[in-house]
Amino acid sequence: MLSSFIKADTEYIENKHTGKYISNLNFDVNQITMMLSTSFLNFFKDGLTLIGLLCVMFFQNWRLSLIAIIMIPLASFTAKKLGKRMSKVVTEAQEKSGDLNKYLIDLFKNHKIIKIFQREKFEEERSEKFVNDLKNKSIKIATVFIRATPIMELLTGIMIAILIFYSGKLIMSNQLNINNFFSFLAAMMLAYQPVKSLSIINVGVGQGLSAAKRILPIVDIKNLVLENNDKKEFSLLHGDIELANINFNYSSNLENNVLKDINIKINGKKMTALVGQSGSGKSTLLSLVPRIYDPSSGVVKIDGQNIRDVNLFSLRKEISIVDQNVTLFDDTIFNNIKYAKPDADDVDVYEAAKLSMCSEFIEKLENKYQTMIGENGTRLSGGEKQRLSIARAFLKDSKIILLDEATSSLDSETEEKIQKALDKLTLNKTTVVIAHRLSTILNSDKIYVMDKGRVMNSGNHEELLTKSETYKNYYNKQINKS
Ligand SMILES: Nc1ncnc2c1ncn2[C@@H]1O[C@H](COP(=O)(O)OP(=O)(O)O)[C@@H](O)[C@H]1O
Ligand SMILES: [Mg+2]
Repeated sequence: MLSSFIKADTEYIENKHTGKYISNLNFDVNQITMMLSTSFLNFFKDGLTLIGLLCVMFFQNWRLSLIAIIMIPLASFTAKKLGKRMSKVVTEAQEKSGDLNKYLIDLFKNHKIIKIFQREKFEEERSEKFVNDLKNKSIKIATVFIRATPIMELLTGIMIAILIFYSGKLIMSNQLNINNFFSFLAAMMLAYQPVKSLSIINVGVGQGLSAAKRILPIVDIKNLVLENNDKKEFSLLHGDIELANINFNYSSNLENNVLKDINIKINGKKMTALVGQSGSGKSTLLSLVPRIYDPSSGVVKIDGQNIRDVNLFSLRKEISIVDQNVTLFDDTIFNNIKYAKPDADDVDVYEAAKLSMCSEFIEKLENKYQTMIGENGTRLSGGEKQRLSIARAFLKDSKIILLDEATSSLDSETEEKIQKALDKLTLNKTTVVIAHRLSTILNSDKIYVMDKGRVMNSGNHEELLTKSETYKNYYNKQINKS
């Protein structure tokens, strides 16, 4: 049921507004958890009410109540046994629902990563496991309750029958006043309610399951991009990329034209750079290449092939991204790197970690590569996360590499070293760099200067210094800073 979510288009998901979406998920999953605990509380609340009403009955007529009391040990024994068993299955279900919750958030955050490293199938199988685990626990809870229902009902039935029969006898022999009898009967009827609800708490489980089902509409989106398996294979030759007449806007904000009339040629096996202020559309432009988004109009071609006409799997196989916003899975460091290439040998993973200078900080951790990174990598610094993301690119070692401010969170010493490694990685590969530091792109084959969604100018560094005022200012500012 989660598979459609994994395949769902990034834009749809990002448009759902990360925070709101995650809190929705949290809400729904939490509701399941809460429902489970309230059901459990109700179990005791109803039990107490029942005891109170039995007291009233006792006050009205001790003889009748005595008979009822005789029933109590039997009832409480049953209730206790059921309660114990219930608390066990409820705890288990809460654990599973917590696991699912964490996983859903992970899935959501790592959406781009799943796509770029083509792990949809893997996540599909993984999600099935998480959902099934919770489902099985819920079924178990339901079973416990369903078993409880007939037992409780039988118990009340027997009680009522015996009491009415005995009351009749007492009234006949004038041992019981008719008023007292009705008060007693009222209390007994009231007592029926808690007894009854003790046995129908399973309705609550149904509500919890429907909360789980509410996740479905969010998740149930047809995916356009993965449905093109029958298209022809993409064949990478020289790795020339061409973006022609590109316009783009996010469907969540149609007024804002993020990219306008973009025409760019990226030479294969060379490095091309994009510079421009933040918000000028650089990251968006980059995400058109692996078809994280499709342009609103215009075409993207790689080696003459319109990327919309080729099998997406074969396209993404050739591309790596080091994204501006690094996302990680709540898993070990080792698995987070290996995510980029599941069939990689362990030595390759270590090698990639070394090249990206991850091994430096990994070796200092207590559990080394087996350290859990914690939710969203909270245990790592921004620079460390960025290095993990670079390690993935080293491991995948694709022919097209997209670097979106890949070294922005690093201190200058580490950056310098990584830059050397990146130079090696990107040698003879089609590389598009968004650099936050101009020094890293001075040798680019071509630099495009972007502003407010447009390409304002292009050329190599020397050319741009003379013909682009924006570029010159930009460059001078950085020189003065350092
Ligand atoms: N997922 C999104 N949904 C809607 N608008 C977006 C999204 N991502 C970026 N934008 C908008 O698109 C514009 C360009 O953003 P971006 O490509 O990230 O620029 P840059 O990378 O140059 O800083 C900005 O105005 C930004 O607010
Ligand atoms: Mg950006």
